[in-house]
Amino acid sequence: MSSLKQLEADARQDDIPVMKDGGIAFLKELLVSHAEIQKILEVGTAVGCSSMEMASVRDDIVIDTLELDPERALQARQNIEACGYSDRIFVHQGDAAEYITMACYDLIFIDAAKSQYHRYTEHFLENSHVGTLFVYDNLAFHGIVDDPSLSHNRSTLQMTRKIKSFRDQLLNDGRFKTVFHEEIGDGIAVAIRL
Ligand SMILES: C[S@@+](CC[C@H](N)C(=O)[O-])C[C@H]1O[C@@H](n2cnc3c(N)ncnc32)[C@H](O)[C@@H]1O
Repeated sequence: MSSLKQLEADARQDDIPVMKDGGIAFLKELLVSHAEIQKILEVGTAVGCSSMEMASVRDDIVIDTLELDPERALQARQNIEACGYSDRIFVHQGDAAEYITMACYDLIFIDAAKSQYHRYTEHFLENSHVGTLFVYDNLAFHGIVDDPSLSHNRSTLQMTRKIKSFRDQLLNDGRFKTVFHEEIGDGIAVAIRL
């Protein structure tokens, strides 16, 4: 097992939310088929697994990744250093919704607080260009978004209602051309900025 795969296995074992293998494979294929993507913003680092997977696709990929939790941000920096990506992946600790940058990104991967996806999208719209890909994970949320009977937890149901409303809004948003891949990972949408 590669050290990155081992890291992902360890993180999942410790209940740290890491993107599903199918989602990671999809994201990497997207980067292979879009060789023009060089600058990536990731919203939701956890301990650095998905950012390192993306950086592993090509040496010209540079990533800013945002993490709210100080301990996770620290762990991510250590993992990224240990795996040799610290010259191309930059971890910024703090609330993504308050992160200000003048940078313009070719891909914006949103994988943080599920109820805040609309907010992140509006916040980082000015850091995108025509053709930027916005990628969203967990839009199926273990199937609960489309079948609320799968959960009896009030806060989960509240959150999945917000995901559903965001997903519907995104699919009808004229600023993007969006494809929702329900069956991939935990439900991934790719929205191209028009
Ligand atoms: C699903 S995990 C990210 C997983 C990571 N992308 C991966 O696959 O390896 C979501 C992360 O977003 C972080 N997060 C939640 N709200 C945030 C916010 N407002 N700003 C930045 N990070 C946030 C959480 O602490 C958590 O570590």
